[in-house]
Amino acid sequence: MTAPQSAQRTAQPTPSNPAASAATEASGPATEVHEIVTISMIGVGNMGGAIAQGLIAAGVDPQHLVVVGSTPESTERVAAKFGARAGTAAEAAACDAVILGVKPAGVVPLLESIAPSLGAESIVVSLAAGVSLKKMEHVAPTAHIVRAMPNTPVLVRRGATALSAGRHVTAAHMTAIKHLLEPTGLVIEVAEKDMDAVVAVSGSGPAYIFHMIDAMAEAGVRLGLTRQVALDLAVATVEGAGTQLRETGMHPALAREMVTSPGGTTAQALAVLDRQVFRGIVGDAMEAAAQRSHELGKN
Ligand SMILES: NC(=O)c1ccc[n+]([C@@H]2O[C@H](COP(=O)([O-])OP(=O)(O)OC[C@H]3O[C@@H](n4cnc5c(N)ncnc54)[C@H](OP(=O)(O)O)[C@@H]3O)[C@@H](O)[C@H]2O)c1
Repeated sequence: MTAPQSAQRTAQPTPSNPAASAATEASGPATEVHEIVTISMIGVGNMGGAIAQGLIAAGVDPQHLVVVGSTPESTERVAAKFGARAGTAAEAAACDAVILGVKPAGVVPLLESIAPSLGAESIVVSLAAGVSLKKMEHVAPTAHIVRAMPNTPVLVRRGATALSAGRHVTAAHMTAIKHLLEPTGLVIEVAEKDMDAVVAVSGSGPAYIFHMIDAMAEAGVRLGLTRQVALDLAVATVEGAGTQLRETGMHPALAREMVTSPGGTTAQALAVLDRQVFRGIVGDAMEAAAQRSHELGKN
């Protein structure tokens, strides 16, 4: 395995070195640069696997990715799946970026066990919902820890990931992690207090949209379309609507107005959604998700 990399080197981002980054790109000349070459992932399930796939699709050399599962067998299985290197937790801890993809309940015990093996400049990135930086820093007091909340579309490089920096994370560390994850989609930094809201909007968000697409497709079938045509139309509609908002910067209310002719079909449909308090249902669902994220954080 490649040895842990030093933090204070100059390097430029390249496909095999995606996260070499200047600390001060927003605030003046680059004085401090943090380079990420070796990446590890401990816990490669739905989310970790989606990120691994997104990173590899973006040009990360799978041989620079060390993966670790809960058993030697599962480690070998995920290594073979991604063409990555099978490693131990201690080897993974020595990498430049150490991504923790285990379930929330497993994060603190795992971090406690790998803390002595972390490289001096390793950056730990926890994907876990509801596990605070404070809890993680309690068991790894000197570690550079970033809390991340990604979502599953990172799989196709159209994800949305929010990051919050721990107390030993420098601007250079943060920039390096942003550069590492940017090929998987939008990456934004938020205050940790906003993470429950992030879970409600983008972490759990893909599930609401999948639910909506499924409902639209089912209704299309009831109206006489074949299942495949109804699904293809619903997926293309959601994809197109999102792309339209992103590429035009248009407010959703204005975009909705463009589709809604007076006395037309869309106006009739929107009136039904409003009578069924669509916004209230979406809002209540998201508040429930945020509340659950908050509760998970207390455990
Ligand atoms: N799914 C989402 O949409 C989503 C979104 C945002 C954040 N997250 C966060 O992502 C994390 C993972 O969620 P997930 O949905 O990907 O769960 P998951 O599919 O169950 O993946 C967790 C993986 O961790 C492995 N594992 C368990 N204990 C381990 C250990 N001690 N060492 C190494 N590997 C271990 C398990 O694999 P083996 O036992 O087979 O090795 C399993 O594949 C969670 O903390 C969650 O909060 C998930």
